[in-house]
Formats: sequence, C-alpha cells, structure tokens
Amino acid sequence: MPEIKFYKQQQIPMEMHKVRIVQKLNLLPVDERLARMKEAGFNTFQLRNRDIFLDGLTDSGVNAMSDRMEAAMLQADDAYAGSESFFRMEKKLQEIFGINYVLPAHQGRACENILAERFVKPGNCVIMNYHFTTAKAHITRVGGHVEELVSDAGLVAKSDLPFKGDIDLKKLEDCIIKETPENVAFLRMEAGTNLIGGQPVSYGNFKAATDIAKKYGILTVLDASLLQDNLYFLKTRDESMKDKTIREITRMVADCFDLVYFSARKFGFARGGAILVRDEDMFHSMEDFIPMFEGFLTYGGMSVREIEAMTVGFEESMDFDVISQGPQFVKYCVDALDAYGIPVITPAGGLGAHLYASDFCSHIPQEQYPAGALVCALYICGGIRGMERGTLSEERNPDGSERMANVEMVRIAFPRRVFTLSQTEYIIDRVKWLYDHRDLIGGLRFVHEPATLRFFTGKLEPIGDWPDKLAAAYKADFGEDQ
Ligand code: F0G
Repeated sequence: MPEIKFYKQQQIPMEMHKVRIVQKLNLLPVDERLARMKEAGFNTFQLRNRDIFLDGLTDSGVNAMSDRMEAAMLQADDAYAGSESFFRMEKKLQEIFGINYVLPAHQGRACENILAERFVKPGNCVIMNYHFTTAKAHITRVGGHVEELVSDAGLVAKSDLPFKGDIDLKKLEDCIIKETPENVAFLRMEAGTNLIGGQPVSYGNFKAATDIAKKYGILTVLDASLLQDNLYFLKTRDESMKDKTIREITRMVADCFDLVYFSARKFGFARGGAILVRDEDMFHSMEDFIPMFEGFLTYGGMSVREIEAMTVGFEESMDFDVISQGPQFVKYCVDALDAYGIPVITPAGGLGAHLYASDFCSHIPQEQYPAGALVCALYICGGIRGMERGTLSEERNPDGSERMANVEMVRIAFPRRVFTLSQTEYIIDRVKWLYDHRDLIGGLRFVHEPATLRFFTGKLEPIGDWPDKLAAAYKADFGEDQ
C-alpha cells in the first residue's frame, strides 16, 4: 500500500500499525531542562533518558519491535555453540541477500573493527561515498586513511536530487589510479548515507562504482545498516524499480558486492550485527576474529533472543508497508520545516530530519560548533533530543587543528514506528519557535575533549550566558511549566 488517500483532509502519512505497548513520557519544565543540559556538559549524549521528552538522538537499537519479533524471542535457543537461533538467522540472511557465509557480531562497529583488522594495512586507503564515524575510526586506528568521494551535488544542503549519496565515478577511478589499486583496501558504499542526511544511493551508482572497483581487483563492501530506507527510495524515486519487489531490489543491490555488513540496531529493528561473505576462503580468513572479539561463531556477542527478533525484523524489512513508515514521517517533518523557511537538508532522506545548522545559526562561527549549540538549544526549548552531526563529530587533524565538517547538521532521528504524528507536529512547532529566536543561540567550547570520538564523551560550556537567555525567552512565551 503506497499511500492511503484522504477525502478532504490534507494528505498526511498514515501509520500502518497499531500501538499495543507504550512507554510513559515526561516533560520537565524548561528551567530543569536548562539545569540538566548544564550537568550534561552541553552534550546530548550525556543526558539521561528520564529527562527527555522526545528522543530523536538516534534510530539505533530504539526502533519499535513488532508483536512477531517479541514472540520470536520466546523460542530462542540458548547454546554457546550450535544455537538454532543462529541457523535461523543465517538462513534468512542467505535467502534475502543471496550470500552464503554469515559472521555474527554484536553491532555494526564490531563488523567495522573486523573489516579493518582483516583488510586494512598501515598506509592503505579505503574509498567511500561518505564516511561513518565508527567506520572511519577503525580504519584510521589500524593506520589506514579514508577518501570520501560523494558527488559534490550530494553536499549541497537544499536540493531536489533523488540520490544524493551517489559516489562520483570519475573521482573514484582517479583516486584508484592515484593511490594504486594495490593500496586500496576496499571500496565501502554506505546506503543510505548517515552523515549527509540519510540520503540514498541509486542502483546505477552501486553497479557502476562496484564495476570500476572490480576492474581494478578491489574488494567491494556494502554498509547496509540503513539499507531499508535506501530500498524505499529506490522503489519510490527510481522509475525503473517501481514494479520490482523490495526483495528483488535487495538482491540486485547485494549482487554488486563481495561483502555486506550491517548494524542490526538499524537493519532488522533489533540489536546486533553481521558480516555476509560471498567467498569461502575469505570467510575462513575472517572467522577467527569472531571468537577473539565477539563470541562464538553462533552468537557473535549477541543475545539469542535478539537474534530471533532480528531474523523476523529482516523479513519485515522486505515489507514495503513497514519500511515506508520512517521516510514518510521524515518527509512530513522536513517539508513542514522547509515551508516555514527553516534551513533543512532536502530532499528528505531516511533516518531523520536534518536541520542545516550552518544556515540556521549562520551567526555562530564553525569553530564554535553551531550544530552542537543548536542541538542543545533544541533540548532546552522543547525537551527534544537530537544529535550533532557536524564539526564536533569530526576528529582533529594530526597537527591539532580542527577538521571542519563539510556539512553542519542537527539530526532529529525518527526511530521507526515510535513517534506519532502529533509528536511530529510538536517537534515541528518547537523548531519553528527556535528558528524565530535563533539569534539568542550562541557558541560552545570544549572543557574536556577526548582524542577519539569526542562527541560521545566530551564536555562543553557555552560562550556567554546564552542558554539562560534562551530559556527566559521560552518561558516568556510558553510559561514556567512547559
Ligand atoms: N554504519 C552506519 C551507516 C551507521 O549508521 C552506524 C550506526 C554504524 C555503521 C555502526 O553501527 O551503532 O551498531 O555499531 N549509527 C548509529 C547512529 C550509531 O546513531 O546513526 P553500530
């Protein structure tokens, strides 16, 4: 069912599920939110869930599970070795992706660790359409470096290009020649792309990019963590795909790659991960890493209950009704913000709505982390938790200078099937208020700055007393108890 049509009412996304288990929410008054933000060191990762009204930090591990997933957890087979739960998962993945060998891992970054350990040597290059934080951290940890070759048009915030995650094919070939094919550990395509706004990759680009890599004997790797959104966009934005089933499209994409890995905190709606390997010798060359880093080969650090749930989740990800929910809600939110003139990444992608902080807070210099400041302001003014996806999420250059992000964004993730339309309206409303009061937002500076993945654990402070002034303006408009 692509869309339910309305008679007189304006067209809105329709939930294709009903809610049967709920979690009570709590909205702290604005003064308390201000105090919690100060305690959290102006880092939304450091907030406690009980202090948050709507949690749009991530869609990772927090998507709503279905009744069937919950039911499957009851028949999990708890064996250290030879668990039937694993074999059920393996069979489902083989069926969906057409790839024979399955290595389980406890989450996506664990797969990235194993890929880096196995394939990346000091001085090697890994080519990507765009990096993801943990993928890049593992590659640089073992002495490799990353080349990000997304097409220039993919980095333009306001756009109507349907597939902004596409890699620039000319740059890809030039890069292979410059680096020499022997020095390229692998080509990693991320679908959809996380750090440029959940933007998808076209089928033609998957095919052409992997064909180029194969011509030079380079291994091809798909990060399928956000594949369900990419599948939705392939079916709805690529004319040649519209009559194909999600299963057929999945297989066409997978067929382009030697290796597929994913975070099952996203793909599969549970908590875990896996690497799928086509070649038997390659599989054996990676096998030892699983017991060393993860757990035995039939659980890989995951609970067997999660394995059962994700196996059902993989099957549900082949259902167009299921995978269309996230992108439809994101689009509703993005379109409403865009119509108000708020800078957002367009077209709407999967994963979440992305505010374009460079323009939203154009008065804050990039070295004072405009996206970091905006995400804190959003929590103070609404109790909504988002995630900074900009310079704060980068690591410094080896000489200590800041590596400025290409795109400064605040991501408001839409965990799948979690928020209702009225909650989405609340998010839109508070972002509008914040936009009208954006001049009150100021910059941030670090008081504790870890060297690696600093956005997780770093602590910051405001430059000036802008958070107090912002909270005062909010109180003046909405009252003390909001
Ligand atoms: N690849 C992509 C594209 C991701 O988005 C993530 C996680 C990972 C790999 C790592 O997987 O978390 O299971 O270790 N993204 C989360 C996010 C954390 O919030 O976007 P993981």
